[in-house]
Amino acid sequence: MIDLSVHIGSLALQNPVMTASGTFGYADEFKEICDLNDIGAIITKTVTPHPRPGNPPRRIVELPYGMLNSIGLPNVGVESFIIEKMPFLQTLKTNVIINVAGTDEEGFVFCVQRLEDVSGIAGYELNFSCPNVKGGTSFSSDPGIAERVTRNVRKTTRRPIIAKLTPNVTSISEIGRACENGGADAVSAINTVVGMAIDIKTRRPRLSTGTGGYSGPAIKPIALAKVFELSRCLSIPVIAIGGIACAEDAIEFLIAGATAFQVGTVNFYEPDATMTIKKGLEYYCQKNNIQKIADLIGSIQLKEMAK
Ligand SMILES: Cc1cc2nc3c(=O)[nH]c(=O)nc-3n(C[C@H](O)[C@H](O)[C@H](O)COP(=O)(O)O)c2cc1C
Repeated sequence: MIDLSVHIGSLALQNPVMTASGTFGYADEFKEICDLNDIGAIITKTVTPHPRPGNPPRRIVELPYGMLNSIGLPNVGVESFIIEKMPFLQTLKTNVIINVAGTDEEGFVFCVQRLEDVSGIAGYELNFSCPNVKGGTSFSSDPGIAERVTRNVRKTTRRPIIAKLTPNVTSISEIGRACENGGADAVSAINTVVGMAIDIKTRRPRLSTGTGGYSGPAIKPIALAKVFELSRCLSIPVIAIGGIACAEDAIEFLIAGATAFQVGTVNFYEPDATMTIKKGLEYYCQKNNIQKIADLIGSIQLKEMAK
C-alpha cells in the first residue's frame, strides 16, 4: 500500500489531488463519473457576497494548447450557496474547501463570516486572482492588500486558509510572503494567465471582455516555475495549479516543491481526470519504490543548475 497522504497545515488529505475552482462546479455534476470521496479535496466555484451573472458572451475560446475564458465569477451568492449547494457537499466524506471572493476587501470577510457556522467545510480558498472581473487581481498584485485581507479573514476563522495567487505580477513570491505574514496556511498558484485572441475577419477580440484568462496545458511550464519559486521562498505549503492533465504533470509539481495540486481545465475534456491522476500517482510510486508520496515533495535535484 502506497501512502498518498499529505498535510496542508492542520488539513489532512488522503491524497494530494484537489479540484481547481470553477472547473468542477459544485461537485454534484461529477458524481456519476468520479468517486468524489477518493479526491483529496474538492474546491468549489468562487462564491461572492451577492449573486453575479458573470460576463456577457462570448466567455470561452478554445485554443490549440489551452482555453481562454472570461466567465467573470457568475454564482448564486453566499446566501443561496448555503441553501442550494451546501446540502450535497455536506454528504461528502472528503475535504470540501469553499473558494470565496469579494469585489472589495470586506467581501472576503463577509463570505467567510457567513460560512463559519455552516458544517462540512474543511477550509477556505481566497480567490485573490481572478483576471476577469474589475479589480479581481488587485488583491494579489499589491502585497499590502493581500496581507491585510488575509489577516482580516484570519481573525474571522480558525479553519485553514489558502490564498490563491495570480501569475500576472512581477514577483509572485513577494505576494506569497505577504499572505504568509497575514496568516495564510498555504498558497495556491497559479490562477489563469492574461491572454487574448482576435478574430481576423471582424478584427474584433474573440472574448466579449477583450482579454481573458488562459489555462490548460500551455501554462504548465509557467505554473511550474512559479510553484518552484514560491516553495523556495515560503515556509507554508504551496498547492500547484496550472495545466495539470496527467499524473506525470502532477509529479513534476511535487518534485518542484508543491505539497498538493489542483486539477483544472482537463476536467472539461476528461471529466474523470482526478481518478486517472490518482491511479497514476500510485503506479509511479510502485514503479519507483516510493512508499510515501510526501517523500517526493521538493525532491528536485539542483546540483547542476547554473543560477
Ligand atoms: C472556465 C474556468 C473557470 C474558472 N473559474 C474560477 C473561479 O471561479 N475561481 C477561481 O479561483 N479560479 C477559477 N478558474 C481558474 C482555475 O481554478 C485554475 O486556477 C486555472 O484554470 C489554471 O489551472 P488549469 O490550467 O489546470 O485549468 C477558472 C478556470 C476556468 C478555465
